[in-house]
Amino acid sequence: MIILKRDEEIERMRESGAIVASALRLVAEKVAPGVTTEELDELIAAHIRSRGAEPSFKGYNGYPASICASINEEVVHGIPGKRVLKEGDIVGIDVGAYKNGFHGDSAATFPVGEIGDEARRLLEATRAALYKGIERARPGNCLGDISHAVQSEVEAHGFSVVRKLVGHGIGRNMHEDPQVPNYGSPGKGIRLREGMVLAIEPMVNAGGPDVRVLEDDWTVVTADRSLSAHFEHTVAVRKNGPDILTS
Ligand code: MF3
Ligand code: CO
Repeated sequence: MIILKRDEEIERMRESGAIVASALRLVAEKVAPGVTTEELDELIAAHIRSRGAEPSFKGYNGYPASICASINEEVVHGIPGKRVLKEGDIVGIDVGAYKNGFHGDSAATFPVGEIGDEARRLLEATRAALYKGIERARPGNCLGDISHAVQSEVEAHGFSVVRKLVGHGIGRNMHEDPQVPNYGSPGKGIRLREGMVLAIEPMVNAGGPDVRVLEDDWTVVTADRSLSAHFEHTVAVRKNGPDILTS
């Protein structure tokens, strides 16, 4: 069941979204060789709480941290820890904040110092694919229009879209209907309506699309251990088009 949001609810979600956006700006300043992902987790948890919100992920299905930090071949759901970021790594940071009854959810993948050419192209393609998808989040379009726009952009760059994990509706719960795949066909899937709020989140591999889950039962990695990137925004479908609540 898809829960539509009224304007006033979307404004509350914008407040949660702004906290997530400011947390990711903080990460951008802080990411550097020598920093551990645990330090980023602590920094972001404190920041979210200082803004009167709660980290959405902490305790979700037993998840032990406030952010996800996924390095290089890790796709999503990397658990922050003692691992030290080093020059040339890429690190996907996923943040959720809950305030006034609503969640915001956003992710970005950051370069650590100078990165290689393939990594740079992967980050740029994944970000571009997210924005191509967002552009299709309009009343009257179909869910498949978003999915197809993301997939086309990714594949035009020679990269592949992860199938096993998808975006999602978001609101009072972090995960609501509908699922938002990053692959699909234009004109297919549910019709988008004003008041839908979607977390659009392409996960893109430099190699093949297959993934595995590590022994910790959380960390998703590429099956071929190729690099992977992840960008995500919480987006409301409004009368006049997409409204990014986490920018
Ligand atoms: N942004 C991720 C998602 O939409 C966050 C989930 S991590 C979890 O699924 F730990 F909270 F599960
Ligand atoms: Co999400």
